[in-house]
Amino acid sequence: MSAKKEYHFIAISGSLRKGSYNTMALKALQQMAPSHIKIEQVHFDNIPFYNADLHTEQLPGEVVPLVKKIKEADGVIIVSPEYNYSIPGALKNFIDVVSRHPDKPFSEKAVAIMGASQGQIGTARMQYHLRQVMVFLNAYVVNKPEIMIGHAQHKFDESGNLTDEFLLTQFPLLLESLVRLSDKMSSGS
Ligand SMILES: Cc1cc2nc3c(=O)[nH]c(=O)nc-3n(C[C@H](O)[C@H](O)[C@H](O)COP(=O)(O)O)c2cc1C
Repeated sequence: MSAKKEYHFIAISGSLRKGSYNTMALKALQQMAPSHIKIEQVHFDNIPFYNADLHTEQLPGEVVPLVKKIKEADGVIIVSPEYNYSIPGALKNFIDVVSRHPDKPFSEKAVAIMGASQGQIGTARMQYHLRQVMVFLNAYVVNKPEIMIGHAQHKFDESGNLTDEFLLTQFPLLLESLVRLSDKMSSGS
């Protein structure tokens, strides 16, 4: 029997705080991924604000390894809160900076989006704004399942483990969808 194809996905949490529910969700996804799927979290806390005066000729050095990781990945997973009905500023800045790199790392990349908020509709508005941004970057975003984790404060235990039974069924489906989309992107069909 042939070995299963291996996948390497890059994962980004849109929240910088230590006790973040979104980072908990990202880690839950990492833990439940089968052995042939590696999910590597990257951090963007050290990326400065994009400034065309400073960054048109040369992007900040910190961004180059992240661009390379995204470019080489089989897909990207973004797990983000919703701030004021939209994408958190730090995450948007990261995407803006990366998008100016000539390698265009998001172009034709398979992307999965999910998010957790303490509100009722679990980042739905942020997710639709992020999908719109991904259109400009020429990324391809998984359509289903849509994972919107509302009332996130009740979906994890004190150690940060995901406890919600429905979500426990949805996370693997999101990964399967990302694998399928990634395969389509790499086969060019
Ligand atoms: C600046 C700011 C804006 C927020 N705006 C929203 C919002 O629009 N919708 C929402 O459901 N929750 C909103 N929240 C609450 C977040 O859902 C909550 O803080 C959540 O825990 C953030 O995600 P994290 O736990 O991953 O940091 C906001 C929080 C902050 C700090």
